[in-house]
Amino acid sequence: MDKIILRNQDIPDIADIDVYVRNGGYAALKQVIETMTFEQVTDAVKASGLKGRGGAGFPTGLKWSFLPKGVLPRYLVVNADESEPGTFKDREIMEKNPHQFIEGVIISSYAIQCNHAFIYIRGEYPLAARILEKAVEEAKTHGYAGNKVLGSEYNIEITVHRGAGAYICGEETALLDSLEGKLGMPRVKPPFPALVGLYGKPTVINNVETLANVPPIIAKGADWYKSIGTEKSTGPKVFCVSGHVKRPGNYEAPLGSITLRDLIYGENFAQGVRGDKKVKGILTAGASAPMLTAEHLDTKLDYEAVAAAGSILGSASIIVLDEDTDIPWAAQKMAEFFKHESCGKCTPCREGTYWLLTLYQRINQGQASQADIDMLPIVASQMVGRTLCPLGEFATSPVTGTLRWFKSEYEAKVKSNGHG
Ligand SMILES: Cc1cc2nc3c(=O)[nH]c(=O)nc-3n(C[C@H](O)[C@H](O)[C@H](O)COP(=O)(O)O)c2cc1C
Ligand code: SF4
Repeated sequence: MDKIILRNQDIPDIADIDVYVRNGGYAALKQVIETMTFEQVTDAVKASGLKGRGGAGFPTGLKWSFLPKGVLPRYLVVNADESEPGTFKDREIMEKNPHQFIEGVIISSYAIQCNHAFIYIRGEYPLAARILEKAVEEAKTHGYAGNKVLGSEYNIEITVHRGAGAYICGEETALLDSLEGKLGMPRVKPPFPALVGLYGKPTVINNVETLANVPPIIAKGADWYKSIGTEKSTGPKVFCVSGHVKRPGNYEAPLGSITLRDLIYGENFAQGVRGDKKVKGILTAGASAPMLTAEHLDTKLDYEAVAAAGSILGSASIIVLDEDTDIPWAAQKMAEFFKHESCGKCTPCREGTYWLLTLYQRINQGQASQADIDMLPIVASQMVGRTLCPLGEFATSPVTGTLRWFKSEYEAKVKSNGHG
């Protein structure tokens, strides 16, 4: 099947605006400007069943319809922070197929009646930022952006803003504060950004991949889009595969059409585990979701099936760990990440991430007793449901996910140091 999002994998040089236009690019925008009202665009996206690709999987059209009527200006803010370990799909979209994404930004801005959209891109993506800046300029000179889009009364300004390398700035309200020039820390919700967002105005925040889905939905219709994927998880998805696989990379497939086994072993996908070793652990949403195991290889890759298996699909960053991986060591790496990235605004996360890391250091340095292992889920339980933003809960996933399947590895470390 032809790619819908990663069209760059089928069409050479599609980052060039002329190549993009020759292959049907900006036709959806033309259709929107010439024939559709704001509401009709939102209705089409709603009908497509598109869910946000940034992690939470919230229905996109529904999110747009939460904006209060008649309150202007409104903003579209694109989350291009992409900082989850193992996630690199938005990077490929922005670097290799930028105009499909920019067309999605313009159509979505039109739908929510926004005249100024912001793309917040992670600081470590300078190449993608430069490519986007160029793409925005090209869109303007071709009449697709700027004042009087395609000769209509609609104006759209697009600003590319570079972040400074903080994972927490991917959380939508921390992102808004950072964009406003403040320290990037999550806001207390409610109020939600739909009512009080950027500069206190109604704001929609969407992920890069989410918006890259919008032009094909408009061009080919909601029914066509719904025919791809499953009833509840519609459309194509880009899966990022990394870790101990032979061919890491981004692979696009309809949601629910392939299993973890297909993705890891398939000829058109990651082609198996390096050295033909066995799979031991699988992270489906980077460091933020509980680990699955080789027993879950037949899990279908859609939001519902991965949840039923005990994890989350999130942004679909699949990290594969082979049979030689020291699981408590891998969990410590994740604990280090969360300790470093916790913004410190709320106590359970600030203190909890510190104590989880301290316990992991003891366990992996051979200084722990059984009581330290038992303490891990106790600390985690003091964090879940008690933090201001989801990072505090994400930080407990390495504990709950690995203890569930690999407790004996923790206990072996304690026994070998005589503290068992
Ligand atoms: C700690 C944390 C980090 C996040 N990082 C990202 C990110 O890098 N990119 C992203 O699109 N969403 C990220 N999210 C999710 C956003 O808060 C938000 O749900 C998303 O951008 C909404 O877009 P969507 O509806 O199109 O998925 C993160 C959330 C949290 C709690
Ligand atoms: S949960 Fe962690 S990252 Fe989120 S606001 Fe609290 S301290 Fe900051």
